[in-house]
Amino acid sequence: MDCRIAYSLFVISHFLFVGVITAETFSADGSEVDPLIRQVTNGDDGADPQFLTAAEHHFLLFKKRFKKSYGSQEEHDYRFKVFQDNLRRAARHQKLDPSATHGVTQFSDLTPAEFRNTYLGLRRLRLPDDATEAPILPTDNLPEDFDWREKGAVTPVKNQGSCGSCWSFSTTGALEGAHFLATGKLVSLSEQQLVDCDHECDPEEAGACDSGCNGGLMNSAFEYTLKAGGLMLEEDYPYTGTDRGTCKFDKTKIAAKVANFSVVSLDEDQIAANLVKNGPLAVAINAVFMQTYIGGVSCPYICSKRLDHGVLLVGYGSAGYAPIRMKDKPYWVIKNSWGETWGENGFYKICRGRNICGVDSLVSSVAAVNTNSQ
Ligand SMILES: *[C@@H]1O[C@H](CO)[C@@H](O)[C@H](O)[C@H]1NC(C)=O
Repeated sequence: MDCRIAYSLFVISHFLFVGVITAETFSADGSEVDPLIRQVTNGDDGADPQFLTAAEHHFLLFKKRFKKSYGSQEEHDYRFKVFQDNLRRAARHQKLDPSATHGVTQFSDLTPAEFRNTYLGLRRLRLPDDATEAPILPTDNLPEDFDWREKGAVTPVKNQGSCGSCWSFSTTGALEGAHFLATGKLVSLSEQQLVDCDHECDPEEAGACDSGCNGGLMNSAFEYTLKAGGLMLEEDYPYTGTDRGTCKFDKTKIAAKVANFSVVSLDEDQIAANLVKNGPLAVAINAVFMQTYIGGVSCPYICSKRLDHGVLLVGYGSAGYAPIRMKDKPYWVIKNSWGETWGENGFYKICRGRNICGVDSLVSSVAAVNTNSQ
């Protein structure tokens, strides 16, 4: 997954809609659409002076909220231009994805290419042909709603920073869950070990290796972890957000071990059954709508299935949103690695049912060794 992030945006704060210029502000939960976004949605081409004034105001709030400063006036002016483009994009996303809320986020001064190159990090879109397939599980009697967060299998949301290391966070998240299921203990595992030490390659594709901030793939990270013996604790091998360090893996400090891992078939009931039985799952997704996502259930009418981001599937709900004149629809709950100030306290909700944004295409399950008995 391409999880590279370009600018240092470690300091992130709440956003919801960044303030609004008029009294008709949005509600604190972000459920109201920002009047500016609505204005742009309603066909404003941005040429009108009102848009510019509003955009300037939003940019001021954005800089303050996310503690942005730019090196030169040129850079500042350029970022303001990008920001205006992103306001228009957020408006387009709002139109295409009415069950979610889109607006200003910490990524609003980044071009789509910068965003892709620095905050994502899924490298390969293809699994090795020899990937083990998960056994088909019974799907009757699955709970209507399910959430591993409530069962204590999910660590707090982490932040990959400006490094395309999403794949390492997806990997640790899945192993943290599996380790919890195997041992009853929740521990936070080291992404930095994967970033520094995992250079596992796809034997069938020259040059396709896990490579720190330049991206990687969860399945090869499971393979690395199996071969290396396991992962260390976050506190023993802390995250730095760069890949310029050497590997400092210490075998005597292994905290969690992979028993086996497999790929789940492209079937939403199988994905749900594997989630319930085996713990949180490493999944790939197309992240284009995530750059402007504020909250709600994302269910865009059109979304590319080109996978560029690695995240963690932690649960699902049966009735999250209702399109006009339709029954409530089910959704997946996804843990992201952009800090708690992104999305819904760091989480993303996306609709189930039609492989939206490729979310069902590359799903991996991992099992951990029960280290209690060792
Ligand atoms: C994977 O490992 C777990 C835990 O050791 C074990 O229960 C399970 O049977 C294994 N699955 C496969 C397919 O080998």
